[in-house]
Amino acid sequence: MYKTWEELKSVCLGCEKCELCRTRTNVVVGVGNPEAEVMFIGEGPGENEDLQGEPFVGRGGKLLDKMLTAVDLDRKKNIYIANIVKCRPPKNRDPKPEEQEQCIEWLRDQVRLIRPKIIVCLGRIAAGRIIKSDIKITKEHGVWFEKNGILMMAMLHPAAILRDPRRKPDAFDDFLKLRDKINEVCEHTYD
Ligand code: URA
Repeated sequence: MYKTWEELKSVCLGCEKCELCRTRTNVVVGVGNPEAEVMFIGEGPGENEDLQGEPFVGRGGKLLDKMLTAVDLDRKKNIYIANIVKCRPPKNRDPKPEEQEQCIEWLRDQVRLIRPKIIVCLGRIAAGRIIKSDIKITKEHGVWFEKNGILMMAMLHPAAILRDPRRKPDAFDDFLKLRDKINEVCEHTYD
C-alpha cells in the first residue's frame, strides 16, 4: 500500500510485472484530481494514450470529454480517470486475464488513495472486472450497483459509441443519471 500519490506514481512508472512493459512507450497511470469523488475506469491505453502517457486522448477521449463537459465534469478538475491495465496491449487487443491480474493491484492502490464515492466503468472489460464478471453492458449500462460502499455504474465505451452513433442518446442518459447521483451523494464535486 502506497502512502502517497507520488510514491505510487513513481513506482508504477517503472513497472515490469507483465510483458506489456516491453512494447509500451509510456505507462499510463491516470489523470485527474486525486481528491476526486468520482472515478472513471477504462480498459487500457490505445496508441495515442501510449504515445502521450494520458488516458483517453484519442477520438474516443474527445467524445468522452464532450460528454463530461455536458454534466460539468472535467478530467483535470473534479474526476480521476484510470484504466484496468496501464500499458498498451499490442495492436489494441483485449488485455489478457494474467495482464489484468498483474496490473489490477495498481488500480486497487489508486482506489484506496482516492476513496471515490462513485466509480464509472467504461465498457465491458472494465465493468466485467470491477462490477461483476457476467455484466451485460447493452442491458445493464446506467444501472447502479453498490460494492464495498462505493456506487458503481457501467457506461458504454466511447469507442463503441463512435462505432455506432445511434447509441449516443443512451450514453447521454447515463451521464444525466451520473449527474443526479453526484448531486445526491457527493460533497464537493460540483463546488
Ligand atoms: N480506451 C480505454 O479503455 N482507455 C484509454 O485510456 C483509451 C482508450
